[in-house]
Amino acid sequence: MSENEVVTLITGAERGMGFVEAQTLSQHGQHVFMGAYDMDLGQKSAKKLQDQGLDVTLVHCDITDRDSIKEALKTVEDKYGYLNILINNAGIPGPEGGLPAETSEEDLRKVFETNFFGTSAMTHAAIPLLKKAPFGKIINVSSEMGSLTSQTDPTSMFSHITSYAYQASKTAVNAITVAYSKEFKGTSITANSVDPGMTATDLVNKAEFEKNGAKPVESGAHRTIEIALDPKNDLNGTFTQDGGIVPW
Ligand SMILES: NC(=O)c1ccc[n+]([C@@H]2O[C@H](COP(=O)([O-])OP(=O)(O)OC[C@H]3O[C@@H](n4cnc5c(N)ncnc54)[C@H](OP(=O)(O)O)[C@@H]3O)[C@@H](O)[C@H]2O)c1
Repeated sequence: MSENEVVTLITGAERGMGFVEAQTLSQHGQHVFMGAYDMDLGQKSAKKLQDQGLDVTLVHCDITDRDSIKEALKTVEDKYGYLNILINNAGIPGPEGGLPAETSEEDLRKVFETNFFGTSAMTHAAIPLLKKAPFGKIINVSSEMGSLTSQTDPTSMFSHITSYAYQASKTAVNAITVAYSKEFKGTSITANSVDPGMTATDLVNKAEFEKNGAKPVESGAHRTIEIALDPKNDLNGTFTQDGGIVPW
């Protein structure tokens, strides 16, 4: 470990895009704390990377559990004393169907508990460690599904898709980005949202997504990795995908 080492914590890093982000960022010399919700899979995933000679530390991190968030950050603090990059990657899909009239309040709360309250609590708890680093980045893995502009643009495919709980939760994730980007404007900490685009992972119906041209997981993780590796850290309060800006 060196004082200049870039320290990164990724939530939901045991599979999908989070795993690819952990692999690529550690290949670039960052020390990655792999936040795992499922520790059995987390152990296998971390071992896979450690067997490749990569410097990763596995931490249990359930973003709906405040004690788990605290413990994960305590591990980062004890080992490094600071955190440069928080990638809020963890997320869950909405219930089947998805029309608002068919969505129960219970389902809505369940999705918000992870995607919004979990992401918000994780970010809030990480701020003291981000402030201790020479630079800090909050990268929220959102979705164009949460873009109100795309959902109301008749020419956008998102105007034809309704997954109320998931979409509303990602709109709310974007609100986290906007709020923190305003609070830390002009400081060393930035906050940005990323849309990976339609990606074939376990979150979705893979076969159906692949049929509709979903990207492989490496491509889905690309924009998040690009921001995490950007040495300038001058992007703040943006919502982007590989193709450029995504409307809020
Ligand atoms: N796939 C797409 O097309 C797409 C498009 C736009 C945005 N996204 C977003 O991209 C992010 C990554 O998703 P993915 O597609 O890579 O799906 P994924 O493979 O299912 O990854 C999601 C990860 O989040 C974890 N997770 C779920 N609940 C958690 C909790 N309470 N605390 C901590 N971790 C938790 C999951 O753990 P378990 O598997 O153990 O439950 C899993 O490791 C998500 O935020 C998703 O909304 C995906």
